[in-house]
Amino acid sequence: MARNHDYLIGLNGGIPWKVPEDRAYFKETTAGGVLVMGRYTWLENKRHLPHAARTVVLSSDSEFRDRIGSLDRVDTAATLREALEIARPTGTEEEAGKGVWVVGGEEMYRRSLIDFNDKAREIHLTVLDDGTSGPSAEEMEGAKFPKQEEWAGSWELRKRWTGERSGEKNRGIKYEFQVWGRSPENR
Ligand SMILES: NC(=O)c1ccc[n+]([C@@H]2O[C@H](COP(=O)([O-])OP(=O)(O)OC[C@H]3O[C@@H](n4cnc5c(N)ncnc54)[C@H](OP(=O)(O)O)[C@@H]3O)[C@@H](O)[C@H]2O)c1
Repeated sequence: MARNHDYLIGLNGGIPWKVPEDRAYFKETTAGGVLVMGRYTWLENKRHLPHAARTVVLSSDSEFRDRIGSLDRVDTAATLREALEIARPTGTEEEAGKGVWVVGGEEMYRRSLIDFNDKAREIHLTVLDDGTSGPSAEEMEGAKFPKQEEWAGSWELRKRWTGERSGEKNRGIKYEFQVWGRSPENR
């Protein structure tokens, strides 16, 4: 998951930057795993991302669940607890050890980090400095990641490395990849 320095993760139903390095990291990390996402994140692509084994989409709307639940490699759930149960790797070679990944958006991150914090094992976070100097995230409508002080108490930063966007689009955006694991007393 990627946020900017103001904790913004989405704007107008999309991700507000295009950083292929971050996209590539997302695909590499979640390849072969099960993706768990909220309805609005699903609606951005409206399809299963083929690098993953399966997708589980959450919605309280049973008609929506019926509509997309018939798609290949797509399951649906009405609660996060149910989604995590359905997402549990099946033991097939394809899914073995590849993990279950909550991949957005705001509501999903908030619920999984705050309500289900003890179930999560790792957080892969990209912090981008997109150079925006407009309104702060508090003033701006948009999807946000929970502030570090709301969840980081039981986590420790294990790895971090930085990079800078070099391609044509969004050149100069700096980013830091972070991998968080559970702190020793919370394992
Ligand atoms: N930067 C990133 O890494 C990143 C990654 C992913 C998404 N995003 C951004 O995040 C934004 C979308 O976030 P969002 O918060 O608006 O939407 P979301 O989390 O994708 O979806 C929220 C919806 O999912 C369903 N849902 C979530 N938790 C549920 C639960 N526990 N039980 C039942 N249903 C549940 C509900 O659907 P119903 O209303 O149908 O019940 C809820 O309205 C987009 O702008 C997207 O671009 C950013």
